[in-house]
Amino acid sequence: MGSIWLRCFFLLLAMLNTSSVATLSNNASDSYWLLRIKSELVDPLGALSNWSPTIHICNWNGLTCSVDKKHIIGLNLSGSGISGCISVEFSHLISLQTLDLSSNSLTGSIPSELCQLQNLRILQLYSNYLSGNIPAEIGNLMNLQILRIGDNMLRGEIPPSVANLSQLTVLGLGYCHLNGSIPIDIGKIKNLVSLDLQVNSLSGPIPEDIEGCKELQNFAASNNMLEGDMPSTIGSLKSLKILNLANNSLSGSIPIALSWLSNLTYLSLLGNKLNGEIPSELNSLAQLQKLDLSKNNLSGSIPLLNIKLQSLETLVLSDNSLTGSIPSNFCLRDSKLQQLFLARNKLSGNFPSELLGCPSIQQLDLSDNSFEGELPSGIDQLQHLTDLVKSQWRLEGYTD
Ligand SMILES: *[C@@H]1O[C@H](CO)[C@@H](O)[C@H](O)[C@H]1NC(C)=O
Ligand SMILES: *[C@@H]1O[C@H](CO)[C@@H](O)[C@H](O)[C@H]1NC(C)=O
Ligand SMILES: *[C@@H]1O[C@H](CO)[C@@H](O)[C@H](O)[C@H]1NC(C)=O
Ligand SMILES: *[C@@H]1O[C@H](CO)[C@@H](O)[C@H](O)[C@H]1NC(C)=O
Ligand SMILES: *[C@@H]1O[C@H](CO)[C@@H](O)[C@H](O)[C@H]1NC(C)=O
Ligand SMILES: *[C@@H]1O[C@H](CO)[C@@H](O)[C@H](O)[C@H]1NC(C)=O
Ligand SMILES: *[C@@H]1O[C@H](CO)[C@@H](O)[C@H](O)[C@H]1NC(C)=O
Repeated sequence: MGSIWLRCFFLLLAMLNTSSVATLSNNASDSYWLLRIKSELVDPLGALSNWSPTIHICNWNGLTCSVDKKHIIGLNLSGSGISGCISVEFSHLISLQTLDLSSNSLTGSIPSELCQLQNLRILQLYSNYLSGNIPAEIGNLMNLQILRIGDNMLRGEIPPSVANLSQLTVLGLGYCHLNGSIPIDIGKIKNLVSLDLQVNSLSGPIPEDIEGCKELQNFAASNNMLEGDMPSTIGSLKSLKILNLANNSLSGSIPIALSWLSNLTYLSLLGNKLNGEIPSELNSLAQLQKLDLSKNNLSGSIPLLNIKLQSLETLVLSDNSLTGSIPSNFCLRDSKLQQLFLARNKLSGNFPSELLGCPSIQQLDLSDNSFEGELPSGIDQLQHLTDLVKSQWRLEGYTD
C-alpha cells in the first residue's frame, strides 16, 4: 500500500512540475522553443545548465533579450563545447538577430528552417562538423550582414541565391568541400567587404561581375580549382587589401589592371598556370608587403624594383622561367625587404651586388639559377641575413 502511495505522490509531483513548465513557458514563447532546442543538444560543459523554466529567460546563458524583455534577439553559444544537431525549432525564434553557434562540435545539416528567421543579421556556424548542402533558402535572409559558415564539411554548390543577400558584408565559406562555380551574380552583393572561399573544390572562372563588389577588401579563393583568365575587372576593386588566389589553375597573363589596386598589401598568385611577363606596372603597388608569384610559368626578366615597391617585405618569384639578371637599381637603403626567393628560374649574371643594398634581408634563396662568379665579400654587410640558400654557387668554403 505505502509504496503505491509513494509512487502516486511522485507521479503527482512530476505532473505538477510539467504543468509549472507549461505555465511559465507556453509553447508559443521563446523559452518553450529554446528548451526544445536544448533537448536536441549535448552539453558536456553545462553551458545550458541555467536554461531552466525557473530562471528568467533573459538570464539564460548566451541569450540577449529585447529591451522589453519579451523576446530574445541574440543567441551566442560560440565555443561552448556543445554537440548534437541544429534544431529546426530555431525557426520559431522569429526575433533573433544574431545566431552564433561557431566553434562547437555540431553535426548534421544546416536546417532550411533557419532561413525563416527574417530578422537575422549575423549567422555564424563556422568551425563545427556540419555536413550536407547550404540550403538554397539562405537567399531569403534579406537582412543578413554577416554569414560565416566555413570550416565545416558542407558539400555541393554555393546557392546562387546568396547573391540576393544585398546587405551582406562578410561571406565566409572557406575550408569546406564546396564545388561548382562562384555564383555568377556575386557582384550584386554591393556591400561585400570580405569574401572567403579558400580551401574548397570550386571550379570554373572568377566571374567578371565581381567588379560590382566595390567595397571588397579581402578576397581569398586560394586552394580551389578555379580556371580561366584572371578577369581584369578585379582591377576595379579599389578597396582590395588582400588578394589570395594561390593554388588554382588560373591561366593567361597577369592583368595589368592589378596595378590599380593601390591599397593592396598582399597579393598571392602562386601555384597557378600564369604565363607571359610580370607587368612592370605592378611597381605602382606602394602598399604591397607580400608578393608571391611563384610556381607559375612566368617568363621575361624581373621588372620589379624594390625602389618603387617601398613596403615590400617578401618577394617570391621561385619556380618560373624568369631570365636576365636582377635589376641593377633593385634596392634602396631603407628597403624593408626581408625575404627574397628567386630559386629555380633561369636568372643569370654575377651575384647581384645590388642586393647588398638591401640591408634588411634575412632570407635569400637564389639557388638553381644560372648565376656565375663568386659571392662577393661584401655579403657580410647583410647583417640580418640568417638564411642563405646558395646551392649551385659551388662555394664549399663559405659558411653562413
Ligand atoms: C501549443 O499547444 C496547443 C495545445 O497544447 C496546440 O493546440 C498549439 O497548436 C500549440 N502551438 C504551437 C505553436 O505549436
Ligand atoms: C559570441 O561570443 C564570443 C565570445 O564568447 C565572441 O567572440 C563573439 O564575437 C560573439 N559573437 C557575436 C556574433 O557577437
Ligand atoms: C533573388 O530575388 C529576386 C527578387 O526577390 C527573385 O526573383 C530571384 O528568384 C532571387 N534569386 C535567387 C537566386 O534566389
Ligand atoms: C558537387 O558535388 C556533388 C556531391 O557532393 C556532386 O553530386 C555534384 O555533381 C558536384 N558538382 C560539380 C559541379 O562538380
Ligand atoms: C585605401 O586605404 C586608405 C587608408 O586605409 C583609405 O582611407 C582609403 O579609403 C582606401 N581606398 C579605397 C579605395 O578603399
Ligand atoms: C599551396 O599549396 C601548397 C601545397 O599543397 C601548400 O603547401 C601551400 O600552403 C599552399 N599555399 C597557399 C598560399 O595556400
Ligand atoms: C610556358 O610558357 C611557354 C612560353 O613562354 C610555353 O611555350 C610553354 O608551353 C608553357 N608551359 C606550360 C607548362 O604551360
